[in-house]
Formats: sequence, C-alpha cells, structure tokens
Amino acid sequence: MITLRAMREGDAEAMAGVYRRSVRALGARDYTPEQVDAWASRGPDAARFRQKIGDGRQGWVAIDPESHICGFVDLEADGHVDFLYVDPEQAGQGVAGRLLAQVEQAARSAGLTRLYVEASETARPVFERHGYSANKRREFQIGDVAIHNYAMERTL
Ligand SMILES: CC(C)(COP(=O)(O)OP(=O)(O)OC[C@H]1O[C@@H](n2cnc3c(N)ncnc32)[C@H](O)[C@@H]1OP(=O)(O)O)[C@@H](O)C(=O)NCCC(=O)NCCS
Repeated sequence: MITLRAMREGDAEAMAGVYRRSVRALGARDYTPEQVDAWASRGPDAARFRQKIGDGRQGWVAIDPESHICGFVDLEADGHVDFLYVDPEQAGQGVAGRLLAQVEQAARSAGLTRLYVEASETARPVFERHGYSANKRREFQIGDVAIHNYAMERTL
C-alpha cells in the first residue's frame, strides 16, 4: 500500500534519487539518450530540493510498503506544479494519480481556480487523465540539447 505525507527537509536526498531514476528509466521512453542525459544531469540535486522544500511551497511524498519515498509532487502558491516524479519500481500503479489528487484537494482548499504545469512527453497522458489539457508544445534547450515539453493547465 502506498501512503502520502507532506514533504519535509530530510526528504531531499531521496527525492533527488527518485528524480534521477525516473528520468533515466521512464523519461527514456519518450526522449533520446542525449535528452535524458541533459534532463537528468541538469536537474535539481539534494541541496536544490532542500531549498525548494523550504521555500513555502506545498509538497507531498508517496511512501512505499518498505517505507521508502517512491514519488513526489509539489504545488506552488499560484497553482504551478513544478515537479511530479515516480520511482520506476512503482510506476504504472497509480502513484502519480494519487499525488495529483492530493494537489487538487490542496489547491481547492487554498481557493485556487487553476493548476498549471510544464509536462514532459512522458507525463502528458497522466496529466490529461487528470483533467489537464495542453495549450502548446514548448521547444527549449538544456545546455546545447534541444528538448520539448507541454504547457498544460486545468481549471478547478
Ligand atoms: C509521469 C510519471 C510521474 C507517471 O507516474 P506513474 O505513477 O507511473 O503514473 P500512474 O501510474 O498514475 O499512471 C501511469 C500509468 O499507470 C496506469 N495506472 C494508473 N492507475 C493504475 C492502477 N491503480 N493500477 C495499474 N495501473 C494504473 C495508467 O493507466 C497509466 O498507464 P498508461 O501510461 O499506459 O496509460 C512517471 O512516469 C515519471 O516519473 N516519469 C519521469 C519523470 C517525468 O516525466 N516527470 C514529469 C515531469 S513534468
């Protein structure tokens, strides 16, 4: 059984590990090896996650039956979802869906009327199933590697 709880500072190391593993294993389904390398290596490390956890945003981690963090999501004050990552070992079991339901509930409680995200190709169908729609494809560079994602939003 997967449980959710609010993220805390001590989770930063585990979150960075989930991030790297999910990009490498799950992101690789939709992006080239060069794109995956750029995405994984330029992503937040534990120190950066610690900053994000402490900057006032809300966030939740998913805990697997062995008490390991197997996924996480955040919600910024303006309705922006900055990250949604699930460990490859727990992928495809609805963990992201649980995390997005938590975001929706918290957003409603905070009186937000809109959620928005820049979703990877991998995450796009998951967000679509949870009521988000894509406004546009965003082309950008990570270092010298071209990559894309989708600006998506959902009205509450
Ligand atoms: C995108 C991501 C977060 C999705 O996580 P996830 O927990 O595997 O997502 P879910 O399980 O909720 O949904 C994914 C699949 O599981 C299926 N699923 C959902 N609930 C399920 C359940 N209870 N039992 C079995 N399967 C289920 C869904 O139908 C979906 O299948 P499909 O993709 O073949 O249609 C994960 O793939 C990831 O971390 N990717 C790499 C990083 C990334 O792209 N992050 C987003 C940046 S914006």
